[in-house]
Parts: sequence; structure tokens; C-alpha cells
Amino acid sequence: MAFLCRSAALLLRPCKTAPVALSAARLCSSGGQYEYIVVEKRGEKKNVGFIQLNRPKALNALCDGLMREVGHALDSFEADNGVGAIVITGSERAFAAGADIKEMQNRTFQECYGGNFLAHWNRVSTVKKPVIAAVNGFALGGGCELAMMCDIIYAGEKAQFGQPEILLGTIPGAGGTQRLTRAVGKSLAMEMVLTGDKIGAQEAKQSAFELTLAEGNRLEKRLFHATFATNDRKEGMTAFVEKRKASFQDN
Ligand code: CAA
Repeated sequence: MAFLCRSAALLLRPCKTAPVALSAARLCSSGGQYEYIVVEKRGEKKNVGFIQLNRPKALNALCDGLMREVGHALDSFEADNGVGAIVITGSERAFAAGADIKEMQNRTFQECYGGNFLAHWNRVSTVKKPVIAAVNGFALGGGCELAMMCDIIYAGEKAQFGQPEILLGTIPGAGGTQRLTRAVGKSLAMEMVLTGDKIGAQEAKQSAFELTLAEGNRLEKRLFHATFATNDRKEGMTAFVEKRKASFQDN
């Protein structure tokens, strides 16, 4: 079985097939239950570790519990000599609609900075086996970032990638500002991050860019935490939860 380093370039390939829905197999390797994901070994030889994000009512919003479960499943697939590659997928409607805004709504700057909020998500990018994101529907904010942490992205025709954090008064906080430039080029990345506009699979596939990642990610994380000290970030997330248009005051 090959163990691959995670230096493979990001690929965005449109494909016609939607990620397949799974029947529930929710036991984790320790025997406990997963609440937010479905995990199983697939393929003829059962050598593909399969993780399906499974919070359909919240469009697979990446709450803390869900990302901890993903980390746990990745740990167990990494340690399993029978698994050669890992697939992370969602549903036809949503790969993931981002970090959980309802969970973040009342967080403070101190909590985010002190607890290094979202740092543990990076586990997805350090797994020592190839990880494939099978994306359809919304891959927004943290959902787009989660896909970009994977080595390869297979995107269905209904996939929509976006970093709409600006509409919530914040910025991407899980590598989006850094990996998006590599995936789609600086110009389109800037447009997406500054407008919150979404792009489809064909557009996402077109250009690639190389920068150093670790320092950029560190800086991004601190700037993301800093938005939790602003009134506009609180207003943006509260407006989303209250289903109204945000009224930003630039402070
Ligand atoms: N967090 C929490 N709940 C979310 C969510 C999120 N990111 N995205 C969707 N939901 C919930 C909605 O609140 C709604 O729940 P209720 O039924 O309880 O009201 C349910 O999922 C369905 O959503 P909508 O009714 O909004 O569905 P829609 O089809 O009208 O719109 C959507 C779909 C365009 C994806 C819209 O839900 C949306 O804009 N979601 C937020 C996307 C976003 O801003 N993502 C970035 C989050 S911040 C982030 O990720 C930071 C980071 O870098 C890590």
C-alpha cells in the first residue's frame, strides 16, 4: 500500500457524476457513534476510507462536533493499513455551506484568539494518505476551504465554490485566502473573497498559482480571529441567523 505525502498539487476536475449518497454506517472504530458524519470502507477491496458529511438540515455546516468527528475518522483511516486513500463528500445539495454561523455568532475575539479557533481543521491537510474531495452543491466558506485542503477535488456539475465570509463581516479563516490563489489564480481569488460571489466547477478549474502556505495561513488565522472583535462581524452573523440583510457600520 502506498503512503503518499500531501504535497500533491490541487486539481479541480468537473465530473458528471454526483457524489453518491451512502446508507448509514455510523459506527466509529472505537465502537462509538458518529453524530454528524457517515463513515465506512468502500471499494471491492474495502481500501477506500469514505467520509460523508451528514447534517442535511444545516447544509452540512461544519460545526465543531462535525469537524472533530472528521478528525477522528481521518486518524483511524490513517492508522488502518488496509486503507489506501480517503474520500470526503457531502450531499448533492451541499458539500458544506461553511463553518457553523450559529455556533460562531456569539464568539468573542478573546475566545477565538486564545483557543486558536479552527486550528484543528488543519488535520485534513496533514493526513499521510491521499484525500479526495467529491463535491456537489454548495462548497462555501469553510466548505470550500475543506475541499481545498484535500489533494484532489472532483467537482460535480452542480458544485458551487465560494468564500462568502465578507457578507458576514469576516474573512476566510481555514486557509481560503491562501489556497484559493493556488487553485484559481490571484485575480479570481481576490474577486471571490472581496465580493463573496460563487463560481462553478468549470471556472474553478482554469488556473494555478504557487506561494508559501504556512506563514500565510498563520496570518490569515489571526486576521480571521480579529474580525471577531468587530461589530460588523457580529452584525453579519446575527443578520444571517435572523434571516435579514446585514446593516454594516464599518466598525
Ligand atoms: N451555518 C449554520 N447554518 C447554516 C449555514 C452555516 N454556514 N448555512 C446554512 N445553514 C442553515 C440555515 O440557517 C438554514 O437553517 P434553518 O432551516 O434552521 O433556518 C438551513 O441551513 C438551510 O439554509 P437556507 O434556508 O439558507 O438555504 P438556501 O437554499 O436558501 O441558501 C445558502 C443556501 C446560499 C448556502 C445559504 O444557506 C447561505 O448563504 N449559507 C451561509 C454560507 C456562508 O456564509 N458560509 C460561510 C460561513 S463562515 C466560514 O465558513 C468561516 C471560515 O472561513 C471557516
